[in-house]
Amino acid sequence: MEYFLTDEQKDIQALTRQIAQEQVKPVAAQYDQSGEYPWDLVKLFGETGLFQTFIPEEYGGLSTGIMDLVLVTEELSRGCGGIAICLAASALGTFPILISGNEEQKQKYLPDLASGKHVAAFCLTEPGAGSDASGITTKAVKDGDHYILNGTKHFITNGSVAGVYTVIAMTDPSRGGRGASAFIVEDGTPGLSFGKKEDKLGIRASITSEVIMEDCRIPAANLIGKEGQGFIVAMKTLDKSRPGVAAQALGIAQGAYDIAVEYARERKQFGQSIASFQGIQFMLADMATGIEASRALIYATARMIDAGVKDFGKESAMSKVFASDMAMKVTTDAVQILGGYGYMKEYLVEKYMRDAKITQIYEGANQVQRQVIARSLIRESASHKMM
Ligand code: CAA
Repeated sequence: MEYFLTDEQKDIQALTRQIAQEQVKPVAAQYDQSGEYPWDLVKLFGETGLFQTFIPEEYGGLSTGIMDLVLVTEELSRGCGGIAICLAASALGTFPILISGNEEQKQKYLPDLASGKHVAAFCLTEPGAGSDASGITTKAVKDGDHYILNGTKHFITNGSVAGVYTVIAMTDPSRGGRGASAFIVEDGTPGLSFGKKEDKLGIRASITSEVIMEDCRIPAANLIGKEGQGFIVAMKTLDKSRPGVAAQALGIAQGAYDIAVEYARERKQFGQSIASFQGIQFMLADMATGIEASRALIYATARMIDAGVKDFGKESAMSKVFASDMAMKVTTDAVQILGGYGYMKEYLVEKYMRDAKITQIYEGANQVQRQVIARSLIRESASHKMM
């Protein structure tokens, strides 16, 4: 399929593909097994400018929009979904500042995030508030020219390794979602600590941990936007970052397909390559079709966002649902094509299958995405009726 990428986008894609295939994929199994954070690769992403792809030029980045981030995330995930999310989760943690931060906050935090000196983490989820994001209980109480934060965030990607945490906390719990506010908390702030590091099924190269705030005192200047806007900041952040999760799913699916098609050509049974059997051919055809359909939807959504269309929550959710469900199916089929070998760690497809699962869960479970899509469809239908 020809997507008519610009020359700059082709360069970003080619550079990331090279890094992913030469530096990421060869160590994917090692990081999957050890569960260590890939500091050396994160440093490399910084040196090669990959963190610049989600930050505008005036703040030290090179980004022309979400499409660049999508291309980078797809290619890195083709090498390893876990290593890729170290970068994509930094974009997620940076979006609140990009979307609603003031000029001073942008000047202060974005250059170090663009250079990869720091990564960011987005702190919304709590033990008792996952899909129900407005049910958070972390509190932020104003005290002169400071806020004091108390609460525990969990399942936080990049938790404990990030330099910058964007945290959603309640400034007025009596108002529910309308009483939430967004804050920047710097690593090293007294009262900020990290709980257990999760032992995960997939994306094991990334760190997921608790972020604990106990009388964590931050300057009032670290409030993003205004008090009461935190839930909207979070929703807008997720609208922007869900195409990135979709791209992660797409890259994981492509990586598993690459292995499956090569194996099918080489593996001989009953005296011939298994790729000559219609049963395998139909599977490969469906896998490739699902991958291409996802890519078309994700790229169209990214271009829509970059073109400045105001409301893109439905398309972001559609991209995430479609690509992540596709990735789960494609990676499972890839394991099936490799048969017993697919079930063994040596061939990596089982890792791709484990990595794919999270894309149906995080940044809003796919059931939540379907709810977002349906609500938007119903709103659109009502407004068409009124016209
Ligand atoms: N943009 C702007 N405003 C929005 C919005 C959007 N996309 N979505 C909702 N809003 C506004 C609404 O207009 C409404 O405004 P008013 O109060 O003025 O009427 C307000 O926000 C509340 O909206 P809802 O009534 O729709 O809120 P809700 O409580 O019913 O929740 C939900 C809706 C879609 C289920 C939401 O809670 C949600 O997205 N949940 C999933 C959360 C999620 O994705 N969590 C993942 C965290 S990140 C992660 O996974 C970790 C990681 O590190 C990778």
